[in-house]
Amino acid sequence: MTGRLEGKVAVVTGAGAGMGKAIVERFVREGAMVVAADISGKQNEVAASAGACCVPFQLDVSKSAEVKAMLDLAVSRFGGLHVLCNNAGIQGGMAPTGDYDDEVFDRVMAVNARGVYLGMRHAIPIMLAGGGGSIVNTASMAAVVAFPQMVGYCASKGAVRMMTKTTAVEYADKGIRVNCFCPGSIDTNMVAGMPKEYIDAVIAANPVKRIGHPREIADLALFLASDESSFITGTEILIDGGYTAL
Ligand SMILES: NC(=O)c1ccc[n+]([C@@H]2O[C@H](COP(=O)([O-])OP(=O)(O)OC[C@H]3O[C@@H](n4cnc5c(N)ncnc54)[C@H](O)[C@@H]3O)[C@@H](O)[C@H]2O)c1
Repeated sequence: MTGRLEGKVAVVTGAGAGMGKAIVERFVREGAMVVAADISGKQNEVAASAGACCVPFQLDVSKSAEVKAMLDLAVSRFGGLHVLCNNAGIQGGMAPTGDYDDEVFDRVMAVNARGVYLGMRHAIPIMLAGGGGSIVNTASMAAVVAFPQMVGYCASKGAVRMMTKTTAVEYADKGIRVNCFCPGSIDTNMVAGMPKEYIDAVIAANPVKRIGHPREIADLALFLASDESSFITGTEILIDGGYTAL
């Protein structure tokens, strides 16, 4: 049986841990050749255990030249670029808006919003030259509903959601699809770093009474990356256990 991404070349950012790691592992199992990119260095282990169809790349997604070099590596190593998962992100800490730190705000926007913009901006010329592609951006349910004390994070994820729609409309007739998904709380380092009372309150308010698993995110990313979602572009898919349905 052929994989659902057989012959496709994918780049995944934030690939050293959490959702990005799960996405890389799933894409490789489905036949993709993958550039696993991260700032942390942990992408090296992820790529090594994935095998020869996966190469690591270290970058800061907020740096334009590094993002371009990451995408160029996909072309030089694997011969093209069909899928880009702009997944790297940081949470930035919690404080009410009146006490929020200006530098934290700027960094959260730089990684979460500018990083996604740069990924799309550099991927599109390559995808156009190659006949199309699928861009999958990781937003958050914080792009849809408010999360108190996270003004930078909510702003950045709202930006991801609207950049997704804007770029999708621009390239819809040129074979490039752009979508984002909006996870609820998922069991990764990002959530492990938040106050326990906060997470307990999120779980209590969630209809499914649990947080999600990175493999559940990888399943959705796979669908959006693959040709199975060929009529889906410009949308945001909530994957939150029903949290925002209430
Ligand atoms: N965990 C959740 O509950 C949750 C919910 C909604 C959205 N998200 C989003 O999902 C994405 C993945 O987060 P996660 O939960 O897997 O967290 P995580 O902390 O486990 O993984 C994030 C990865 O991004 C990398 N990274 C951070 N800054 C980077 C940079 N400047 N350049 C390159 N890589 C960088 C980190 O090194 C890390 O490996 C993020 O965009 C996050 O905002 C997470």
